[in-house]
Amino acid sequence: MKAIAVRPGTPDSVHLVEIPKPSIQTIDNGRGVLVKVLRVGVDGTDKEINNAEYGAPPPGDDFLVIGHEGFGVVEEVGDNVHELKPGDYVVATVRRPGNSIYDLIGTSDMTTDDIYYERGINLRHGFLSEYYVDDADFIVKIPKGLKNVGVLLEPMTVVQKGIHQAYEIQRRLKVWKPKRAAVLGAGTIGLLAALVLRLRGLEVVAFGKTVKPYLNSDLLEEIGAEYVSTAETPLLDHAAENGAFDIIFEATGYSPIVFEAMQAVAKNGVLILSSVTGGNRVVEVPADKINLEFVLGNKVMVGTVNANREYFESGANDMAAAVLEYGEWLSKLLTHPVKGLENYEQLFEVLTNGKDVIKAYCEVATEAKAAIN
Ligand code: BGC
Ligand code: ZN
Repeated sequence: MKAIAVRPGTPDSVHLVEIPKPSIQTIDNGRGVLVKVLRVGVDGTDKEINNAEYGAPPPGDDFLVIGHEGFGVVEEVGDNVHELKPGDYVVATVRRPGNSIYDLIGTSDMTTDDIYYERGINLRHGFLSEYYVDDADFIVKIPKGLKNVGVLLEPMTVVQKGIHQAYEIQRRLKVWKPKRAAVLGAGTIGLLAALVLRLRGLEVVAFGKTVKPYLNSDLLEEIGAEYVSTAETPLLDHAAENGAFDIIFEATGYSPIVFEAMQAVAKNGVLILSSVTGGNRVVEVPADKINLEFVLGNKVMVGTVNANREYFESGANDMAAAVLEYGEWLSKLLTHPVKGLENYEQLFEVLTNGKDVIKAYCEVATEAKAAIN
């Protein structure tokens, strides 16, 4: 079968490989699931892996099949799989367990191991292939009504984890009732964070660089969020004028904004950091002021990466709620489909240079084809 791979360590090495179709027999506890891949989303992580900034092949291979935002349909299940059946729509989680105590209790997203295993990213092949096999423990069923937007679930889980953890932390306050939220960054993660916060009934102000109107600001306004361009109103000016935020979700990929965000969190508020910033930027900050306000305001800042199964389940629930509340909104995020694994060059061209891209994804197969196969 065909798959899209890179040679880790070699920049711009994305290419097509021919590899054997996997079998459920490779999972020896009878919990194997064979998934026919329908769609796979791509994001900055794939770009950075193709730039050879990180990423490693599975032991024994010199290539890494990429793709961690998978969506597919079950074709075959092992004898001990009772929760899934052929025809079910599914999304697989990304990280696989290591050895820390957090891995042992099913929360590998909280691993303290130095080495982590992530499908399509580090030491495990990903989903940009015609099929994949995995243990049913890592495969989450998606309601049929979400099949057109199921490819958005993996990015959605990153948002779910951040927001759930923030609420979990805020149970310290006994009576916390957040009203105002800020989302920094209006890309895929920012849009999904704004959605989840709106579904929780918060007032949401989303900050982006681009001056409105453009597709992303229109989409934010459609769900009742306010859009502010930092080119016109910097975050701290906005907060000084309109008040600080009970929750801030940072998803810009630009680390200096974090120190501004620390000054825009309200007393008892929480700042969620989700940008994976691989560079080495240095900035000067008003350290005493930031520290003092954090201490006197009992504020919290939390980092979040990856997501475990629980967030795939809650993410699917929130996506269902979004369809009920906002209709077709989620599908408007699917801006740039590219048909066929063989068009990997076009997929990366769109991802790197595409105009007005919210989500670029590979249409690996259509369902009709999946049914015949
Ligand atoms: C993925 C996460 C992953 C992280 C770090 C992100 O792009 O969505 O699942 O944990 O990269 O590798
Ligand atoms: Zn990602």
